[in-house]
Amino acid sequence: MSRRFFVGGNFKMNLVVNSVTSIVTNLNTAQLDPSTEVVIAPPSLYLLLVRQLADSKIGVAAQNVFDKPNGAFTGELSVEQLRDAHIDWTIIGHSERRVVLKEDDDFVARKTKAAIDGGLSVILCIGESLDEREAERTIEIVTRQLNAVAECLSKNQWTKVVIAYEPIWAIGTGKVATTAQAQEAHAAIRKWLAEKISSESAENTRVIYGGSVSDGNCKDLAKQPDVDGFLVGGASLKPAFVDIVNSRI
Ligand code: G3P
Repeated sequence: MSRRFFVGGNFKMNLVVNSVTSIVTNLNTAQLDPSTEVVIAPPSLYLLLVRQLADSKIGVAAQNVFDKPNGAFTGELSVEQLRDAHIDWTIIGHSERRVVLKEDDDFVARKTKAAIDGGLSVILCIGESLDEREAERTIEIVTRQLNAVAECLSKNQWTKVVIAYEPIWAIGTGKVATTAQAQEAHAAIRKWLAEKISSESAENTRVIYGGSVSDGNCKDLAKQPDVDGFLVGGASLKPAFVDIVNSRI
């Protein structure tokens, strides 16, 4: 089975009603490669608006979700609320939440399980810091992050996961990973899937790259055998996002 190419747009804490409306309207009318799965992640405030505005071919993701059901958790969003809003995806474990908000591996794992148990699909973010890369600990770090999630999920639940390898040192810096660096990390992640989950999971799970992806570097990255797409930050706010979606044309 060939893995369907996947491009996510993580809008992060950007945009207001007018600009998010403009971006979605432009995406609706753009010529998007139909063989690419496109999912956009607006700020939580705009999830209902974006789901109503976006063409049905475009998936919509939350940027985070809580691990507990509805209740006294001020400021959080529940899986049930996202499903009620016809939101089918969520990003979990983004490095900005792991670093800034101190979300640890176990919390990320619990949120991933809660999301999948509740019917969501998950873009699971993993990746190493610059110090860890320079200490040649990349594979150790991403393996640790994946092992924590594997403790919580049943093997067949990995069919609901897209793994986003996002080296922290490449996020928002303009210092994109080289094709060799990306391919090496993705191949190691796929090897982990084969050894820890199943050969079928290794074959079918999309492993996407994030970290300073642009219309200028996406084509070479997309040619790597274990790069199945992208999770795009800054460039998802610009018209060039369409070129990244179409990076294999
Ligand atoms: O989630 C994707 C994001 O972390 C990548 O950001 O701006 O480097 O594309 P950026």
